[in-house]
Amino acid sequence: MDKIKIRGGKVLNGKIFISGAKNAALPLICASLLTDETVTLTNMPMLSDIKAMNALLEQLGTKINVFDDFVDGHATKTYSYRTKNIESLTAPYDYVRKMRASYYVLGPLLAKYGKCELSLPGGCAIGARPMDIHLASLEKMGAKIEIKNGYIYAESNGRLEGAHLILPIASVGATCNILMAAVLAHGRTVIENAAKEPEIGDLAKILNAMGGKIEGIGTSVLTIDGVEDLHGTVHKVIADRIEAGSYAVAAAITRGRIELINARAETLRQPLQVLRDMGVMVEETANSIIVDAKGRTLIGKDIMTEPFPGFPTDLQAQFLALMMTAEGASMVTETIFENRFMHVPELLRMGANINVHGHASAIVRGVKKLSGAPVMATDLRASFALILAGLVAEGETVVNRVYHLDRGYEKLEEKLKSVGADIIRIKSDDE
Ligand code: EPZ
Repeated sequence: MDKIKIRGGKVLNGKIFISGAKNAALPLICASLLTDETVTLTNMPMLSDIKAMNALLEQLGTKINVFDDFVDGHATKTYSYRTKNIESLTAPYDYVRKMRASYYVLGPLLAKYGKCELSLPGGCAIGARPMDIHLASLEKMGAKIEIKNGYIYAESNGRLEGAHLILPIASVGATCNILMAAVLAHGRTVIENAAKEPEIGDLAKILNAMGGKIEGIGTSVLTIDGVEDLHGTVHKVIADRIEAGSYAVAAAITRGRIELINARAETLRQPLQVLRDMGVMVEETANSIIVDAKGRTLIGKDIMTEPFPGFPTDLQAQFLALMMTAEGASMVTETIFENRFMHVPELLRMGANINVHGHASAIVRGVKKLSGAPVMATDLRASFALILAGLVAEGETVVNRVYHLDRGYEKLEEKLKSVGADIIRIKSDDE
């Protein structure tokens, strides 16, 4: 398994190009299942999660082509998806266990082909993550759902029917699955308490470009008038707000300055405000965000994760790492997932002063120095928090289980190296 070795202490300075968003791209790929025509996605990130989703779609019968492309002078990839002849309506265990976002095939397959068998994703490192809201909503739209032998068997007798749905939690995944089911349903679907994350806006946008009728994009009430058919389109994936936020913290934690090219400030209001409150200079330009902490003393700030537009849970670990280097105490509260402080024990091994209270909150007290250590994390964002700690720790930090990072950070070492980090990947073929 590959490792990443960092020598801490470099002040980062320069520009980083922000890639297309993983969490937008994954449902967009599945939206291509809703039409027989070609759906082309530009500004796609090269990540193992995208490869895993592509493998699942190929297994269903989708023909996929990949092309080299450029966005604002930066090399990127364009993928085209065409599902003319569906070969399977099953998302097997081996695919779903590798990537839970495989569950995004459920809505489209059920809506277009009237059937889907999906291995039920179990819990994961950050929480139990049930699918009850997805399933209850699809049942209200007329689907018959049975859970047997670890699989969800979903079937509809003809087209799904529009329904009035009030989500008990503004779930990102459930909102995406319902949207993809509702665009081809008979009649009107209303989703109240829909999630408002920008990735959902991106999905709604592509569905409308394919001929769907969705109103209320960006609000908590989505109204979908089902249509009989959807067609192909070309769509540019939005910039990854979590990648941008992660590199914003890299600038702040090293007291450096990074311009985040292509990052969209409107998708990062809360995290940018926290940085400003801590004493970081944040400037927004037409196509970038400049984060400048040069020569600044940062002050700790409390944060609490919430659904968008609140502070994102996917930046909690990175900001917690930043608080370790700020003056005073900061309280970090996690309200979205029940087990998202798994990075803390590893950070303690590097000399942090953090007290976790139950599963919901942690008090972080700023320390004068951190020291490098071999560390490993159990999920993607927690792994990035360890990279951040390594960037400021004295001596060498070796981050293990790099496959977590490869799921969500494109060209991680290359990007950090380009702004002055001392970072290398140690390749290994061992499993
Ligand atoms: C998405 O997960 C993201 N994943 C996560 O990104 C992100 O952390 C999360 O949204 C919150 O923003 C993708 O987009 C692929 P939810 P999702 O449904 O859709 C509970 C990353 O690092 N819930 O909004 O699974 C659930 O357990 C990741 O990139 C139910 O109880 O999140 C959680 O507590 C990890 N029943 C809360 O709702 C349900 O049926 C929010 O989950 C569905 C969700």
